[in-house]
Amino acid sequence: MAPERRGTVTTLTRQRHRHLYPVAVSEPPVVRSRRLTRRYHGEAVLHRLDLDVAPGEFVALLGRIGSGKSTLLRALAGLDHDVTGDLQVRGTVAMAFQDPLLLPWKRVWQNVCLGLRSDRPRDIAYRALGEVGLMQRATAWPLTLSGGEAQRAALARALVREPDLLLLDEPFSALDALTRISMHDLMHRLWAHHRPAVLLVTHDVDEALALADRVLVLSDGRISHACPVTAPHPRDPAGPHLIALRKHLLAELGVGTEGTR
Ligand SMILES: Nc1ncnc2c1ncn2[C@@H]1O[C@H](COP(=O)(O)OP(=O)(O)OP(=O)(O)O)[C@@H](O)[C@H]1O
Ligand SMILES: [Mg+2]
Repeated sequence: MAPERRGTVTTLTRQRHRHLYPVAVSEPPVVRSRRLTRRYHGEAVLHRLDLDVAPGEFVALLGRIGSGKSTLLRALAGLDHDVTGDLQVRGTVAMAFQDPLLLPWKRVWQNVCLGLRSDRPRDIAYRALGEVGLMQRATAWPLTLSGGEAQRAALARALVREPDLLLLDEPFSALDALTRISMHDLMHRLWAHHRPAVLLVTHDVDEALALADRVLVLSDGRISHACPVTAPHPRDPAGPHLIALRKHLLAELGVGTEGTR
């Protein structure tokens, strides 16, 4: 049976799925999947996957290479019509990827408001570029941007859609370490201001711990592990709470001490 994508979400069985639940659940979730399954050539990449994401919640998704993270994001974005199970996604969805995917023949501000239905697309694009610290590059051509600037433009393009759900597929993984840290700060500020629900796919446990309210691990086609991150922002990566969580998550991923790749 093809998954449903409706405007409203029905009653939830909270007790049964307690470990999947976000820190605070008062409104219906933005994402609710039950038994979500995707097969390629008969092999299940997603296998009866259950997941809820609450409005405004920041969730990070870790998993080994080829574990199905991008497959899940594509399903949530409505880009995959071959998933089965029950899937409900509420509201507007925007995505950003490792590749900023800017059209090189359009100015930066035009990329930001591409496809946006508005009487004042330029004003909206400039405001978003201001938020990501890129106003001075608004009329530049995308190929003249640095990697970090291009990714800021991609975030601005996602934000102008005012998404209820922001899906991020390794958006910072191609950036150098320092740029990545500044992108984490920016991402946190944007999230705190706009409060979309976010599902961030990453291989970087530290990135997940820097940003997320909840970190999930995808393995064998399911959410095999979920842990809340309750440390207040700004987070100290050297604090005992995050160090303990880091060790725990790396063990879940079957990694010794460094990274997951
Ligand atoms: N269109 C496709 N046809 C066949 N197999 C596919 C297709 N897309 C993905 N797969 C397979 O499904 C599995 C999951 O792929 P997916 O891209 O979701 O993994 P991922 O967790 O995002 O990996 P990575 O960490 O490398 O980005 C992989 O084994 C991949 O080869
Ligand atoms: Mg992927």
